[in-house]
Amino acid sequence: MRKHVSAPLPIARTVADLRSAIAAERNNSRTTGLIPTMGALHEGHLSLVRAAKQRCGFVVATLFVNPKQFAPHEDFDRYPRNEAGDADLLASAGCDLLYAPGRSVMYPDGFATSVLVSNVSTMLEGQMRPHFFGGVATVVTKLLLQALPDAAFFGEKDYQQLLVIRQLTRDLDIPVEIVGCPTVRERDGLALSSRNAYLSAAERRVASRLNVVLHDAIKALRAGAPVDAVEGEASRHLAAAGFTSVDYVAVRNAATLQPVASLAEPARILAAAWLGKTRLIDNMAV
Ligand code: PAF
Repeated sequence: MRKHVSAPLPIARTVADLRSAIAAERNNSRTTGLIPTMGALHEGHLSLVRAAKQRCGFVVATLFVNPKQFAPHEDFDRYPRNEAGDADLLASAGCDLLYAPGRSVMYPDGFATSVLVSNVSTMLEGQMRPHFFGGVATVVTKLLLQALPDAAFFGEKDYQQLLVIRQLTRDLDIPVEIVGCPTVRERDGLALSSRNAYLSAAERRVASRLNVVLHDAIKALRAGAPVDAVEGEASRHLAAAGFTSVDYVAVRNAATLQPVASLAEPARILAAAWLGKTRLIDNMAV
């Protein structure tokens, strides 16, 4: 049987090339869907490509490992990079164009602007990684303004990031629909993440407990257990399962991420915990 091989994916490296490709599609009445990524692609990213394909005529993925969202002690240098492999995966999922700008395109000499979103970006991830959302908001704003897509697709795996991006597009009147897509999981429930590649075999076994502990916490909340007791119990279960440390387990309002006292309002449970040098995050609707 002959194996199906996708045609090589066209790659744009400059804003001018990106814009002219999108303009040509728009002249043919095709809408554009944008999928911002940092590469090291997995099935979660490809599910975003498929979701974009269903709604938009022209699908563009971006690949830029954004230095502004990593603190100096974080994993920017060892973040997995494989542009050719990523391009093949994108082509096989039906992506039409890869935009892979260099650092000098995104942050030319003299670059001096930051986009800072208050409220929703200040707690949880924002507290643990104070530089993170400023870097994400700045690069996503740039990517959206460079491409001016009709819709942009982000995974709910990074739930707080999704809310930050929705907030900035509303506040800055960027004319784009932000589409949140469900988290894709391994068979044992571990949320797909580029950083799962860092896990040793032993850590990988422990990692799947994160999803189990969150499910158990949701059951306890639905059975009427108090929010703070459930948060504490879930943290203890993660530590007992073998997580090296727990940054937070938090039950929050699903729209604002403010603490909730009860389940009278739509809530989300979010967690971040470490396995050795690898930090995992996950979240679920309660
Ligand atoms: O979720 C990611 O991969 C990144 O934070 C993003 C949105 C591509 C910005 O660099």
